[in-house]
This record gives sequence, structure tokens and C-alpha cells, in this order.
Amino acid sequence: MAFMKKYLLPILGIFLAYYYYSANEEFRPEMLRGKRVIVTGASKGIGREMAYHLARMGAHVVVTARSEESLKKVVSRCLELGAASAHYVAGTMENMTFAEQFVAKAGELVGGLDMLILNHINYTPLRVFSNDIHLLRRSLEVNLLSYVVLSTAALPMLKQTNGSIVVVSSVADTAMKAVAGIYNAEASPKEECALEIIKGGALRQDEVYYDNSILTSLLLKNPGRKIMEFLSLKKYNMERFINN
Ligand SMILES: *[C@@H]1O[C@H](CO)[C@@H](O)[C@H](O)[C@H]1NC(C)=O
Ligand SMILES: *[C@@H]1O[C@H](CO)[C@@H](O)[C@H](O)[C@H]1NC(C)=O
Repeated sequence: MAFMKKYLLPILGIFLAYYYYSANEEFRPEMLRGKRVIVTGASKGIGREMAYHLARMGAHVVVTARSEESLKKVVSRCLELGAASAHYVAGTMENMTFAEQFVAKAGELVGGLDMLILNHINYTPLRVFSNDIHLLRRSLEVNLLSYVVLSTAALPMLKQTNGSIVVVSSVADTAMKAVAGIYNAEASPKEECALEIIKGGALRQDEVYYDNSILTSLLLKNPGRKIMEFLSLKKYNMERFINN
């Protein structure tokens, strides 16, 4: 009974609140109007589609990737589509100095930041680990460390605006080409994926899954895991953790 009172009821309450809340909040494109958004890996694929969606919604868009040529085209298309403004800064996320300076530059260009969309990825060949530490390190630097560097650099600006950070992991279009023949699944449609990601970010959803199968979304929303997370977090003194 004590267990019931202490855990089960609050958990039930949280779930009901969660479902009620997520069912009721609706996305409106105006949510992005005038917002200042960074999109990384924006020269192609989902990144580029996200930039286009944001442009249609009237956001200020700052895109980055390695290819200056591609970025120029993305920026001019964004302006055609109705972006409040569109800028690019070309560079590689292998360079942490660039990553850090890019965020500062973007902030200067649009006068702050409301959303940071981390979408770039370094394609390493999909194969059994063959003791190639160099490849692994590069992969970790681009796919993980630069995400931390970008987020850290953006935090002061995001705090000011109650902004958000969106992290993308995808097997759409471009990513699928990289693993073709080894990973057999259908590529997700990048335009729709891109829109779902932006909606999730605007609504501050913890997680968004784009998948055609209902089963996947049910499995991934796994209530067991949510309950475990809830119980584990109860063991932490969050106030001390944050102020430590
Ligand atoms: C890394 O980026 C910084 C800032 O853009 C640049 O000054 C520096 O030359 C770059 N380093 C390398 C090794 O490319
Ligand atoms: C951010 O959120 C806090 C707390 O919810 C609120 O007090 C503050 O006014 C918000 N700031 C902005 C810029 O929306």
C-alpha cells in the first residue's frame, strides 16, 4: 500500500498528464515565425529539408556544413521560401574551434538563438570494428564531441530565450545511401521527417520517432523504460546535482 501511494499513483498521474498534454498541444507553424534557428549538416538530406521548412515558417535560419557551394544554394532557396533571414557559415565539425566559433558567429548574425538543431554526421563505413582507433576517434569527435561543444557554446543564448536543443538521428535518404547493401530498411521520406523533427522541437517533446510502423512507435515509447527512468531519478538530489 505504501508502495502504491509513494510510486504508483504519481506515476499514473504523470502518464495521464503526459498523454493528455501531448494529445492536446498542437503544432502551429507560427511557433517558428521570427525564431532564430541553427541547423547543422544542412547542405543536403534532412538538414536541408529542415532549413526549408523553417524558412517557410518565417524563421531566421543559420545553416552550416562543409560545402560552401551547397550552402549558398540552400540559403538562396530559404530566402525564396520566405525565411526572415538566411545565413550560412561553412566549416567542418572535425574542428572544435570552428564548432565553437560557429555558434558565436550565428548568434551575432541573427542576434541570439532560439533553437539549435544538431543534425550533422560523419559517415564511417558500416563494418565490424577492425581495430581502427583513428576512424573511431574521428567518428566520436564529429558525431558526439562536436554536439557537446556546440550545445555548450549555445547554452548561454538558449537560456536567455528558453530555447531548445534538438538532436537528430536518422536513416533517411543520405544516411541510407551510406549504408546501402548492409543495413536493409527503407529510407524515411526526408521532407516529412524534417517536419516531424521541427514539430517535436517546437513542442519540446522529449523524443520524436518517425516511422511508418505503429509497432515501432509503441515499442519505443516503452512505458517500462519511462517508469525506470522516473524511479532512478528519484534517487538523485537534483538540486545538489545542479548546484554542484
Ligand atoms: C579550425 O577552425 C578555426 C576557426 O574557424 C580556424 O581558425 C583553424 O584554422 C581551423 N583549424 C584547422 C586545423 O583547420
Ligand atoms: C523563460 O521561462 C521562465 C520560467 O518558466 C520565465 O520566467 C521566463 O520569463 C521565460 N523567458 C522567456 C524569454 O520566455
